[in-house]
Amino acid sequence: MTVVCLPGDGVGPEVMHQARRALEALAPDLSLEERPFGAQAIRDSGDPLPEETLAACRAAEAVLKAPIGDPEFDGAEVRPEQGMLRLRAELDVYANLRPAKSDSVDVLIVRELVGGLYFGASGVREDGTAFDTCEYHPSQVERIARRAFELARARNGKLTSVDKANVLETSRLWRRVVNVVAADYDDIEVEHMLVDNAAMQLASAPARFDVLVTENMFGDILSDLAAAVTGGLGLAPSASLSDGGPGIFEPVHGSAPDIAGLGIANPAAMLRSTALMLEHGLGRPEEARALAAAVEVALAQAPTPDLGGTGTTAEFGDAVLRALS
Ligand code: NAD
Ligand code: IPM
Ligand code: MN
Repeated sequence: MTVVCLPGDGVGPEVMHQARRALEALAPDLSLEERPFGAQAIRDSGDPLPEETLAACRAAEAVLKAPIGDPEFDGAEVRPEQGMLRLRAELDVYANLRPAKSDSVDVLIVRELVGGLYFGASGVREDGTAFDTCEYHPSQVERIARRAFELARARNGKLTSVDKANVLETSRLWRRVVNVVAADYDDIEVEHMLVDNAAMQLASAPARFDVLVTENMFGDILSDLAAAVTGGLGLAPSASLSDGGPGIFEPVHGSAPDIAGLGIANPAAMLRSTALMLEHGLGRPEEARALAAAVEVALAQAPTPDLGGTGTTAEFGDAVLRALS
């Protein structure tokens, strides 16, 4: 089994290193192939997603990705983020699972990942007006809705569909399609919620939610919020899945340029993304459980500064390895 590792930018290589150490200990039979991606790839070749990297990702069982992004490219024509959007679209990983869990809260955000504002026509007109367009085809809504209903069925049977149907045409489509799909899932309790209210309730009463399903941009914003109310961005993993090809497994957080190179980034989100890869990407639930449990131990033994501790990235990784052995 081959896993393509994309070490990314900023704290990316630091947290990826810990993920590789854990994988080498836990699943030594996996072949880990590192490929250029993001800011480093732009510097080397002008392209954040070189063709050879894309081909390797397509041919792999799974893609393990650390965050990309570098302030050096703010305002540049070619940005690291473009490579990331292209990779998501090329692999058609439309279902982005973003779990957020603490003692009292257990929510799963199911974010549509390859449509909406991120992929609509955009540009700047002659008069200086900038525009981005949000489009969804019913089939794009239907497939993410079905995924979310299935996931709700495997959890606590409650689904909150988040939209802005009081304003947006795409949201009214979203709501109609979710209601059509709901007819196939009588066992699931469905509610619709406007996104501004959803943000408020996630902040003030997060325990009321089970599964949330929403479009691309709303899911981006709400998943940082859900991470914040369950311990912080340093803990939040994600899995991006298609209908058959390789998935992408990456933290919710970015390249954290403010702490890059200091050796204090929390690798928990990256390690938990690795556990999601073992489970959803490689079909190895036992190793996934072992890694998730080892992360819990490390969180108690070597918490990093974002959690109020003094552990370094490497010490956290050491604690994971001890727990695994
Ligand atoms: P960010 O998520 O990188 O950082 C936000 C804050 O959270 C910072 O204070 C940072 O230090 C902290 N933080 C994030 N991850 C942490 C960790 N593992 N341990 C400890 N603290 C952590 O968001 P940003 O600063 O808005 O974005 C920086 C860059 O990352 C941008 O270029 C953005 O486009 C990119 N980005 C990439 C991804 C991705 O590759 N999946 C995701 C989000 C943002
Ligand atoms: C994320 C990130 C990306 C997104 C950016 C870097 C394009 O914020 O994965 O949450 O908005 O999808
Ligand atoms: Mn984001």
